Amino acid sequence: MRIGVIGTGYVGLVTGACFAEIGQSVLCGDVDQTKISQLKLGVMPIYEPGLAELVRGNMDAERLDFTSDLAEIARTADVIFIAVGTPQNRDGSADISNILEVSRIIGKEMKGEKIVVTKSTVPVGTSEKIRDTIESLSEFKVHVCSNPEFLREGSAVSDFTNPDRVILGVDNKYAESCLKDLYGSFMKNTEVILVMDLASAEMTKYAANAMLATRISFINSIAAFCKKKNADIQMVRKGIGSDHRIGLDYLNPGVGYGGSCFSKDMKALIKMMSDLDLNPSILLAVEELNEDQKTILFHEVIGRFGNDLTDKKIAIWGLSFKPDTGDMREAPSLATIEALLAHGASVSAHDPRAIKEAKQRFGTRISLCEDQYEVLNDASALVVHTEWDCYRHPDFEKVKSKMREAVVIDGRNLYNSNWLVSQGFEYYSVATSD
Ligand SMILES: NC(=O)c1ccc[n+]([C@@H]2O[C@H](COP(=O)([O-])OP(=O)(O)OC[C@H]3O[C@@H](n4cnc5c(N)ncnc54)[C@H](O)[C@@H]3O)[C@@H](O)[C@H]2O)c1
Repeated sequence: MRIGVIGTGYVGLVTGACFAEIGQSVLCGDVDQTKISQLKLGVMPIYEPGLAELVRGNMDAERLDFTSDLAEIARTADVIFIAVGTPQNRDGSADISNILEVSRIIGKEMKGEKIVVTKSTVPVGTSEKIRDTIESLSEFKVHVCSNPEFLREGSAVSDFTNPDRVILGVDNKYAESCLKDLYGSFMKNTEVILVMDLASAEMTKYAANAMLATRISFINSIAAFCKKKNADIQMVRKGIGSDHRIGLDYLNPGVGYGGSCFSKDMKALIKMMSDLDLNPSILLAVEELNEDQKTILFHEVIGRFGNDLTDKKIAIWGLSFKPDTGDMREAPSLATIEALLAHGASVSAHDPRAIKEAKQRFGTRISLCEDQYEVLNDASALVVHTEWDCYRHPDFEKVKSKMREAVVIDGRNLYNSNWLVSQGFEYYSVATSD
């Protein structure tokens, strides 16, 4: 079976590399020619643990190749995965123009029967649109499937190869058996392959992201209450999370969710529900709470120093929306930095992987350092945004020696409050009472 993947971002590149790793012949394509030229040289456009080795190893083994000629994929692949971006329209709905553009190329160029599989997150009903588009341009048979992706940035390769479940939305047995064979070849437990109709598969992705986002806003609300009433949110989290009906995942109080998916998919689901005259108020509340949560660290800063930050330098550890990725899309750090700059502060920041993206976003408006201690020079506060491992056990003596004022504002509850205070720090976090 020859596999084509269109879109070589987080989802497409991981999909292509992982299928190549199990011996499939994979051709990946993208409209971004620079990205394709880099990939052909073995240069990764993104950071994802284990991905570079996987891509280079499979290129060397001649199982994985890249092209900017999408027609070549349409002509040569038997199964084509679509993993292009589905960004947000102004009204919140998902923009599926990239999906339809790719469908047109497939329809025009295919020279035989194809299985076309959507990995991108798409509104319910998109599979039919893809099929109609392709069928209007081709005499050959097309089997359109929905196979939404659940990988998480930062652990994308291991999530892809050890998924909790694989959702296969299909409407015919031939496509079902091909995709089951494909996934079955690297999954130990094929019982986690869940076959369903197309609409249910498309909806499963939105429902999953909405559930996870809801848990995050929920625990952040409970954390705010605990802080006011001197209750320990970490104990409350354990107390509720040890109930098997609840569990502990996605119940960490923090600075709100970020990343390219949650907010975009929540808005798309809100729009889909509103269009059907259904009440999306639970989702609206989750989003509203999250927007507020993103500025919680900024409010800690002005709570401590006042509104005028003109003579203050604020150091930030962590810019990416989560650890183990360089991705800053919708990262809460963006809200903090913009608010700090608007109040006159100077900002210096460190991140193990996001410095390049931060430079593109902020230019010279903030200073960026490769050394996590250098950003602290003369800083009045250290704001910890992302829980990278390198921030978990820093040399606090060194931290203190560099700062003008020993103030730590911890958005990820990484440090022991009592110990830090005993070392002469002022400590604020989303979990500890003021
Ligand atoms: N990033 C995640 O963690 C994640 C997880 C699950 C699902 N998803 C969904 O998967 C899809 C892709 O997400 P991503 O994070 O990989 O996006 P991305 O922005 O990293 O990559 C998308 C790629 O598609 C390419 N592209 C856009 N239009 C194209 C076109 N017309 N033809 C060919 N290539 C085109 C872009 O150049 C880019 O390289 C989205 O629908 C997203 O919601 C993302």
